[in-house]
Amino acid sequence: MIVCVCNAKNCRTVREVLANAPHVDTPAAAHRAMGCKPQCGRCLPTLAGMIEEVRNETAMATALAAAD
Ligand code: FES
Repeated sequence: MIVCVCNAKNCRTVREVLANAPHVDTPAAAHRAMGCKPQCGRCLPTLAGMIEEVRNETAMATALAAAD
């Protein structure tokens, strides 16, 4: 699924960037990490949701690993 039409970035690319750049915590930072800039801004809410989702998954995995 295309997330950012203006920059032709799909869901897989965004998830890879978020996995490899744990400092990325905003849509603007995600664009920078993908080597582009926001243009129309329509993808910003989707990117924000994906960042939250990936960070929650990471926190859950860390908590489960610590519980073992
Ligand atoms: S859809 Fe991402 S900046 Fe336009």
